[in-house]
Amino acid sequence: MTAELPVGIALVDQLSKEHDEVRSLLSGIEDLTARNDLGGAVDQILSGSAVIGEALDEHIVAEDETLFPALASEMGQELLNGFIEEHVRIKQLRDLVISSARANNLPVGETEEFCQVLREHMDKEDMMLFPSARELLS
Ligand SMILES: [Fe+2]
Repeated sequence: MTAELPVGIALVDQLSKEHDEVRSLLSGIEDLTARNDLGGAVDQILSGSAVIGEALDEHIVAEDETLFPALASEMGQELLNGFIEEHVRIKQLRDLVISSARANNLPVGETEEFCQVLREHMDKEDMMLFPSARELLS
């Protein structure tokens, strides 16, 4: 969905809305993992695999290739590179978590790390990057 949006406030709003969908999925995965219900966590990951799979890829492309280039001159490429590097790490962990869930062999440590890294990344975007982006784009 974000692929069709030009750079602007509507794109930032859509990206933020998608973060909420991802957060609710992560909460479920984290709760189940914390209770050591790995079968439940596997089911949750597989049923949410579109949200953290193709939708997350599209979301990251919209940030890396549409939103961030429009912010680079004001916010600095170095700051944005930190977010871009986190996207790479998030996708690596995501690929591991989904393929392990498909094999019904979920690694608890990496699953917790994936949830934590992704949650902290989204919080940083929503609390720091997106408010600045809204100001610059308005
Ligand atoms: Fe991001």
